[in-house]
This record gives sequence, structure tokens and C-alpha cells, in this order.
Amino acid sequence: MSYYIGIDLGTSATKFILMDENGSIKNSVSKEYPIEFPAPGYSQQNPEDWKKALFEGIPELLDGFDSSLVKGIGTGGQMHGLVVLDKNDNVIRPAILWNDGRTAKQTEYLNEVIGKEKLSEYTANIAFAGFTAPKILWMKENEAELFSRISKIMLPKDYINYILTGVHACDYSDASGMLLLDVENRCWSEQMLDICSVKEEQLPTLFESYECIGCVKEDIAKLLSLPSGVAVAAGAGDNAAAAIGTGTVGSGGCNISLGTSGTVFISSEKFGVDSFNSLHSFAHADGGYHLMGCILSAASCNKWFMEEICKTKEYKTEQSGITDDMLGNNNVFFLPYLMGERSPINDTDARGTFIGMTLNTSREDMLLAVLEGVAFALRDCVEIARSLGVNISSSKICGGGAASKLWKKIIANVLNIEIMSLESEQGPSMGGAMLAMVASGEYDNIKSVCEKFTKIAEVTKPEKDLADRYEKQYRKFRKIYPSLKELFKNI
Ligand code: XUL
Repeated sequence: MSYYIGIDLGTSATKFILMDENGSIKNSVSKEYPIEFPAPGYSQQNPEDWKKALFEGIPELLDGFDSSLVKGIGTGGQMHGLVVLDKNDNVIRPAILWNDGRTAKQTEYLNEVIGKEKLSEYTANIAFAGFTAPKILWMKENEAELFSRISKIMLPKDYINYILTGVHACDYSDASGMLLLDVENRCWSEQMLDICSVKEEQLPTLFESYECIGCVKEDIAKLLSLPSGVAVAAGAGDNAAAAIGTGTVGSGGCNISLGTSGTVFISSEKFGVDSFNSLHSFAHADGGYHLMGCILSAASCNKWFMEEICKTKEYKTEQSGITDDMLGNNNVFFLPYLMGERSPINDTDARGTFIGMTLNTSREDMLLAVLEGVAFALRDCVEIARSLGVNISSSKICGGGAASKLWKKIIANVLNIEIMSLESEQGPSMGGAMLAMVASGEYDNIKSVCEKFTKIAEVTKPEKDLADRYEKQYRKFRKIYPSLKELFKNI
């Protein structure tokens, strides 16, 4: 028997799972930490908090289990975050996160002055404010002294892997979101390094997600109650790791993640780019590629509305007030742009908006508008994929929001596709543990692990009448943002 540890380095918490070689989950632990919003649209986090979560989380996870059986660790991490280390590998400044919007100017410089065509040629992507390259340019411009001290640039999960192994490594799926990688050829782009004033030695060594980057260092193993020789997988960006965890590999699979962000992830064996680069074209953790649309606020909209506005954590009770006849008939609409928006509008100025209320509007109508607004924003991403000829008739689903049957029903009908829930849905941590199984040699390849571990438990099917009603509602939703776009610039 052997054990594998899967880690999901998330935005609000790090989740750890302990899994045996047959995919059965033995234990799980979650450690929360804060996010700093030092200015509107800014979002950062202290890598020391992730390290603390690691040092508390793993011993707690292993408590009561035979830790000598642990053979591997794999991490799926929040993407795009800029982690900078000095020559002694000390963190220089708080990590600037994926949902940070401070880089509007640098993003515009990359897209308009360097030019989208060139960026797409070099990296298969254009610049979005959350990507790493604009953050590097922001640091160069605004924190010149700190910038001059950078010895290594890493992504969040790579910092955790560095703490474990002492190796500066990154996998292709996560590296894709830096806008420094030539995604098709799986190597750093010389042109992009030049544009960002970065030298290749400042970047981590690249690996496939399921490759072993090294073993946990002896001193760290002792602190974490681990045996010696535990293999550490390169790991993956959280969306690619979640896709592994739901078995979305090879060509034609789709996975929707309803976490802090919301993503539509379309896997493919072949490399591809859409002509406007509206979807991200990234490497996948299975060795192939994927297209992805990312909305910055998904389950976080629901959390915000429930906890900050309604001052409750009773998610189920609140949703139980939404009756079937209300679906597809709501006069209230919500734009879920609480942190600006990435896909497809790429607008850091966009903001959350309720529209359409009357004196009859109830709290349930507004909650429903939030759930529907997120579903409509996901549909915006799906529409782009459809316009490229990608046929999406079903999708797996994962993430905290996927626990709501009501939200899954809304999404199935707004997208007019079947939504499939997994028997054991553990998101990126599950994918991380599965990657560790290949990295340690327990399994030969990731596809066979997926075939063995990922089983569908429930299918939510669209219903003709409801899907028709939502089609009409979606057309109304589509008109709201263009009418407000100019106004958002002045808010
Ligand atoms: C993907 C993205 C988010 C984060 C969330 O491009 O920015 O999904 O990875 O952790």
C-alpha cells in the first residue's frame, strides 16, 4: 500500500488530501489565509502564509496514518501569481495574484505597442491583466529597486515545490499563463524575455506536470513527518490539475470549475489558438494542450452576496427560497465583474452590477440573479469556443459552487449542455495526487490514472422549455455590459 498527497494551493486556503494508490481519499485538511486588497483592484498574498499552511497542513493530514507509506506529493496552484525571490531565495514582495488588476497600463502596452499579433506569435496568447508578464513590467516601472534584486521568478505552487525540494521548477501548464512561454513548442520565448527584461536563468526549469522534479529534502521531510525519498511532481496550474482530477484529458473533454474564479477548460491533444485570442491557449498537464476561458469571479460572487451583503453562511437555506417557476423568468440581472473581468471582455474597469430591480424584487430574485449572472458569463466563454467550431455538448464540473444542485441546473440550461458531477470531486488536489502517482512511478501515465479514478456520479440535463427561456435571458444579459462599458471607466 502507498499514500500520495495532493495539494490545492488556492486563493482563500490550501487544501491537502491523502489518497491511496487506488484513489480512495483517506483524509483531507484545509488551511485558510488572508488576501490583501491594498488598493481597488489590487490583490496580493504573502508566500510565507502558504509556507505556514504547508508546515501545519501536512503533519495534520498525516496524523493517525502510517506516514512511512507516503510516496509522492503533487500540487495544483492558483495560476499567474508573481512570486519573486532574491539571490538568497528570500521572497522580495507579496505575491501579486491572478485576479489583480493593477497592470492595465502594462497590459495595454503589451497588446497595443508590442501588438497582439506578435504576442500571439511568440506565446499563443495576448496579454491579460492577471498574467505574469504585465506584473513583471509593473514591478520594473513602479518598484525599480525591488525589481533589480530579482534572482528568481516563480509561480505560487512552484514556491511550495521549491520549499519542499530546493529545486526551482515549473510545469508547462502553469508556465503558459506567464505570457513568457512559447506554448506550442514548450520552451521560454526569447522575445518575451527580452520585452520583459528577464534572463532565462531567472526563470525556473521546465517540466511536464507528471515528471518528478526531485525528492523532499531530508530536513523538510523531518519537519513534515514524511519519510525520506518522497517524490515531488512538477504539478500544474489549478485548472489543469482540476481537469486531471475530473478526467478531462485527451481531445474533446470539457471541465467547468466553479471556484473563486470560473473556468471553461477544453482539452485537446493538438495545439490550437482562436483568431482573436479570446480564449487562453495553454499546455495541459496530460502532455497535450487546452483552450480556456476564465471569469475572475464565480463562486466568489455567491460568497460575497451571501456573506457580505446578506450576512449569512446558510447557502442551502437561502437557495431553497428559489422555486422552479422563478428560473429563466428573472427581471433582475447581475454582471459578475467584482474584480473586473478577464474572458472574454478583458476589462479591468468593469464592475459588479445589479440591474432591473423594482419594489417587488425579493432577496431570492437577487440571489438568483447572482447565480444566473455567473452562468451567463460562463456562456460568454462557451460561445467563443462554439464560434471556433468546438462542439461542447457536455461538461464535467468541479469547485465549491458545484455542490449546489440549483446552480448546476441553471448552468446546464444556460449553456444547454449536460453537466456531469464526479463520484469523488476534490478539484486540483485530486489532480495533484494523481500527478504524484505518475511522478513516483506508481502508474505509467496520467491517462490510465484518470480512467481508473474518475467516475461520473450524476448528470444534470438541460430541459427544453427552461433552456429556451434562458436563451432569451442570455440575449438580454449580452446587451448590458456594452451599454455600461464607457461608464465603468469613470467609476
Ligand atoms: C486561470 C486563473 C484562475 C486561477 C485561480 O487563468 O487565473 O482560474 O488559476 O486560482
